[in-house]
Amino acid sequence: MNKTISLSLNAVALAVGAVCAAPAALAGEVEVLHWWTSGGEAKAAAALKAQLQAKGHAWKDFAVAGGGGDNAMTVLKSRVVSGNAPAAAQIKGPSLQEWAAEGVLASIDTVAKAEKWDELLPKVVSDVMKHKGSYIAVPVNVHRVNWLWTNPEAFRKAGAKVPTNWDEFFTAAEALKKAGLIPVAHGGQNWQDFTTFESVALGVGGADFYKKALVQLDAATLGGATMTKVLDTFKKVKSYTDKNAPGRDWNLATAMVIKGEAGMQLMGDWAKGEFLAAGKAPGKDFGCAAAPGTAKAFTFNVDSFAMFKLKDAANTKAQQDLAAAVMSPEFQEVFNLNKGSIPVRLNMNLAKFDDCAKLSSNDFVATAKTGSLVPSVAHGMAIASAKAGAMQDVVSQFWNDDKMTTKAAQERLVAASKTK
Ligand code: BGC
Repeated sequence: MNKTISLSLNAVALAVGAVCAAPAALAGEVEVLHWWTSGGEAKAAAALKAQLQAKGHAWKDFAVAGGGGDNAMTVLKSRVVSGNAPAAAQIKGPSLQEWAAEGVLASIDTVAKAEKWDELLPKVVSDVMKHKGSYIAVPVNVHRVNWLWTNPEAFRKAGAKVPTNWDEFFTAAEALKKAGLIPVAHGGQNWQDFTTFESVALGVGGADFYKKALVQLDAATLGGATMTKVLDTFKKVKSYTDKNAPGRDWNLATAMVIKGEAGMQLMGDWAKGEFLAAGKAPGKDFGCAAAPGTAKAFTFNVDSFAMFKLKDAANTKAQQDLAAAVMSPEFQEVFNLNKGSIPVRLNMNLAKFDDCAKLSSNDFVATAKTGSLVPSVAHGMAIASAKAGAMQDVVSQFWNDDKMTTKAAQERLVAASKTK
């Protein structure tokens, strides 16, 4: 990868223009790469933009559509390789270390020290934001991945009850099917398949199994009997999805639950952002429950922005102001109310948040103590990106290919976990 980041002439011209136009000294521009393009996501991104603009800087939007961020990461790589990195990019989990090791990320320690981030963040989060002891990224939120979203009206019609384990899940799915509804709204894309898969793994095997199999990648656990049961249960979920699922975007799957065409969706709480953006109320128009069997566990997914090295002083100042703004209580509140997540900043007042967010917040704290707070593999929190990618491919092949046996899938999963 190209290690020197040269600012494009264009950006310099814009920055100079901004300095001349604004009376405030050092007005800069921040180009921000993200993949927040659905209804709820776009509202949250708008809150970020407003924060930056309030500080007198310009926001240059670099949105790359595609849930889960796979497309965004591909585009980011080519931009950095060509020496034209954006100022900030949505990069998460272990990938932050991969990028930092390339020498392209900037330290934001000055801001982090002045604002006392070490005291404001849970350690499990601040550790991930640092490379060799220096902050190279700022966290935005905590998303919970192991959720089940339901349409209460559909459940009433079907005479079904919201499932708390996988047996109950299939009983509810059968009832929804008999009532003429699509039981499970699903979008067949690798990251969505794996979002379902990891919730099944957590629900069927528990948090210790999850950590051994999917975080430590222990070959015996990945190849063992519990994983066989996980794969079989996962594959059974597919029989309750509709034939148009392949390729469907996650927010369109959420829309099926919103409209009552489908009864449930297994998805992280960015889905709540869609329900809210559609004017729906939690507990009334939609339900949030932990994915079956996972009420005492929490799969976390923390969005964060990595800061790239810049040469221009005004833009660097703007970049630092963005980092400070992201951690402010005002931003943490407005952003997360729209995004469906909870604030990453500790000790925030959650008065304006709904019951789903309060449950998430309580469970985040409780599971951190019991050891059942686990990182999401589907959302780049747990393992190196090459391994995660290879494992996701296997899981999706198994989901899509009805001829692939569980045994074959399991052997391939073990092999994929050894990807270098
Ligand atoms: C991100 C969320 C985003 C979701 C769907 C996840 O990986 O963490 O912020 O809303 O993908 O695009």
